Amino acid sequence: MEQVLQQLADLRKEIESLQISNAKALEEYRIKFLGTKGLVKALMGEMKNVANEQKKAFGQSLNEFKQFAEAKYEEWKNGVGESNGTAGDIPDVTLPGDAIAVGSRHPISLMRNRMVQIFQRLGFAVADGPEIDDDWHNFTALNLPENHPARDMQDTFYISTNPAWLLRTHTSNLQIRAMEHSKPPIRIVTPGRVYRNETISARSHCFFHQIEGLYVDENVSFADLKQTLYFFVQEMFGKEVKVRFRPSYFPFTEPSAEMDISCLLCKGEGCSVCKKTGWLEILGCGMVHPKVLDNCGIDSNKYTGFAFGMGIERPAMLKYGIKDIRLFSENDVRFLKQFTGAV
Ligand code: PHE
Repeated sequence: MEQVLQQLADLRKEIESLQISNAKALEEYRIKFLGTKGLVKALMGEMKNVANEQKKAFGQSLNEFKQFAEAKYEEWKNGVGESNGTAGDIPDVTLPGDAIAVGSRHPISLMRNRMVQIFQRLGFAVADGPEIDDDWHNFTALNLPENHPARDMQDTFYISTNPAWLLRTHTSNLQIRAMEHSKPPIRIVTPGRVYRNETISARSHCFFHQIEGLYVDENVSFADLKQTLYFFVQEMFGKEVKVRFRPSYFPFTEPSAEMDISCLLCKGEGCSVCKKTGWLEILGCGMVHPKVLDNCGIDSNKYTGFAFGMGIERPAMLKYGIKDIRLFSENDVRFLKQFTGAV
């Protein structure tokens, strides 16, 4: 009994001499003195060895010690809780947080946004619509004849369970939808993804992106089309870039043209990118065919319109010096990271 009381007195001294200021030391203290395998529990186990007449006194001393140890624990716990966070492993909430890695825009998005912004300044609105569409919106309404090669299984992806549906081969399906649902004046651009069954190589892919434009109103002329495209090219590629139109054919425009710009790399001198011609073909355009207007319920005697369409990949490859079109869709972080901060 004497021995045990002496032990309690020593432990009390030990506790009094402790300086606990962090959570780790406090937990160690709790385990040592108050835990299920701690000293207080162990001393309680001694009760059975104490003579009956001393049990009461022993129990009292032990209880006092327990209360003292618990009070100290509470005192330190509050102290640690109130500390300003500099003690031990308590996190310092005043430290700056971990930086969150900022992603970057995809180069196709960057190029599309630039293109859209230029047309928006001319009053064009952005129209969106389905990538899976029917034959009417992708072909028939656009005056694409039944035997047109674009309809061939070689070029168009049809939905196998329902061949009436297909993956749009151009965003012109949205021009039809816009004309069906609204009245002139219509002035829209349609950026979006399109699909063609082409062999995948460094220069072509089975899906790519386009932006098309449509303007329908009274007295819209080819001069308006040219002026719109001149403005676009100068804003997009710079004032020194030259432009030329070549007569062409599209079933949905008449007359039709293709537009070239002077090669951005060799400035028209002739290099491997422009195949030594000094020119790069960037878009197709023309005056909306009267049949297309009529197909959409727009009076072709009263209204005229122009339309144009171009790819987004090619200009993005030129601007950012990308040599392989497949890089756009491989999601290689090393490639994508390079566009952080690019505009
Ligand atoms: N839809 C054509 C294409 O995908 C581009 C185009 C649009 C041409 C509008 C003329 C007018 O190639």
